[in-house]
Amino acid sequence: MCGIVGYSGKQNSSKIVLEGLKTLEYRGYDSWGIAVQDKNQIKIFKEIGEIKTKLSMLPLPKTSCAIGHTRWATHGGVTMTNAHPHISTTKDFILAQNGIVENYSTLKKMLEKKKYTFKTQTDTEVIVRLIEQQTKKDETFRDSVRKAFNMLEGRNTIIVLDSKEDNHIIAVKNGSPLALGIGKDELFLASDALAFTKYTKDVVFFDNLDLIEIKGNKFKIYDSKTGKEKKYKITKLNSKVEDISKGKYDHFMLKEILEQQDTILKAVNYKLDDLKPLIDIIKKAKRIYITGAGTAGFASGQIAYYLRTISNIDVLDVRPYDFASYFPILKKDDLIIAVSQSGETADTIEVLEYAKELGCTIASIINVEGSTIHRMSDLPYLIHAGPEICVASTKVFTSQCVFGYLLAKSMVGEYTGAREEVESLSSGLREYFTEKVFNHIKKLVRSIKNRNHFFILGKEQNSYIALEGALKIKEISYKHFEGFSAGELKHGVIALIEKGTPVFTIISDDMCSKDLLSATEEVRARGAYTVGVGDSKFRKEECFNFFLPVVKSKELSALSNVVVFQLLSYFLAFSLGNSVDKPRNLAKSVTVK
Ligand code: AGP
Repeated sequence: MCGIVGYSGKQNSSKIVLEGLKTLEYRGYDSWGIAVQDKNQIKIFKEIGEIKTKLSMLPLPKTSCAIGHTRWATHGGVTMTNAHPHISTTKDFILAQNGIVENYSTLKKMLEKKKYTFKTQTDTEVIVRLIEQQTKKDETFRDSVRKAFNMLEGRNTIIVLDSKEDNHIIAVKNGSPLALGIGKDELFLASDALAFTKYTKDVVFFDNLDLIEIKGNKFKIYDSKTGKEKKYKITKLNSKVEDISKGKYDHFMLKEILEQQDTILKAVNYKLDDLKPLIDIIKKAKRIYITGAGTAGFASGQIAYYLRTISNIDVLDVRPYDFASYFPILKKDDLIIAVSQSGETADTIEVLEYAKELGCTIASIINVEGSTIHRMSDLPYLIHAGPEICVASTKVFTSQCVFGYLLAKSMVGEYTGAREEVESLSSGLREYFTEKVFNHIKKLVRSIKNRNHFFILGKEQNSYIALEGALKIKEISYKHFEGFSAGELKHGVIALIEKGTPVFTIISDDMCSKDLLSATEEVRARGAYTVGVGDSKFRKEECFNFFLPVVKSKELSALSNVVVFQLLSYFLAFSLGNSVDKPRNLAKSVTVK
């Protein structure tokens, strides 16, 4: 959460930093700020909310060195005072942070005793004061930053702009991501390389506790604990410079939903030989865990379902934030499969760090090349969905699931059949995405948009789809949608059904369909407004008040079903006038715990 950008070079620094911040806005959009170095002075511009100010309106001079930050508030409300970057008392350096200083209140009390004062409610200002304290003792500014940083607890990455020396930036990485881009006579720093890949593909990814010092167009890396210089490796990124514009669409979300007809094909664009190392380790591993958070967690559940039902592989699906209770039984012969869009989710990374230390093999199904999880994995599999900008994940979910399906089918010698099934889903989606279908969904939206509580029933292959469908709608419509297995209904949830309560039933042409029809009858008998989502053969069933037919698919009908909830979520949020791509309180990359 939060995005950091830094630049030193021949271009207008505030232009580069502003562009970078716009790309990183998915990491937080409570406020943003840019600080430029201008003839040994620092000039700052900050704003609350999303980035609305255009470069031509930015009241900052054209200079060759700047830093910037886009905030997802942790400590301190969303105010101008709390917006980063934060300047030192003597105004000779300015700093921004991505992360949380866990011991900030102890440090603040210690500094207050020494008569340091604070203007903001942020944990970040503590780092500024710590550096100020150090500058009175240390020979170099680098040492002051380093020693102050070593007093911090938690996962935090900082960037500091020094006014006393031309084009001087220092950054330290711990936990939260940071990448350096090496251009011709210019250097870029950012929380995500996507912020500068338009200018360079030569990237240095950092280890935790690396300190990076930029002076002009030169840089050095140090170990922040010892202060000793370190060697580094330049990685050439493979991915094309991807289109990150909305194109003809009003929102990234709709664009990304529609892209699924292509992205699911890209996700399975692996040869059988590419999958072999993972298949071999799955066969050998003592125990297999799969983990991911939020939507990636539901993709983990769906992949575990495919591995269990198609290839008889026992995979334990555990949420990363609840993994600690498994640590005592984790063994070095175990395999952990991490599922993540960003590859930067703090909870997931923490599990992998523990597992790596133990010697477990780590595989991952991820979208972002060069991300922390990508680099930590022994067997990383990129799903190549391209940048997913909308905070609510759509195309990455289906891509991760089809990759898991391909893997499961390949394990039982059905690699070709799996590719064909995904191709058939892709062409089905191509035909499905029409105004006629959208209008049908919008008609339903009009009739339910004023209700506040909704339920989604699924079962077996559609259990995780019910959870993911509900999450998608909650995230951007802010309505209470609850998804659960239809089997749970009579064990409690049915008590919530009243006259008119909308209940969605996900129904595939499978062994659960009868149970789902009965469950729908039961809620209807109690006054629910019933909506069927699924195979069109059920559209005429009397128990449904409304029916949303989906793309026909033999084995991937669960993924056809989820697409309907994505569209429903989009049209509902849109009709409510919500901020679709940047929903309140959320950030796309959850890099703090
Ligand atoms: C998706 O719609 C959510 N915004 C969120 O649940 C997300 O899937 C989760 O934070 C995991 O992120 P990751 O895939 O980048 O690890």
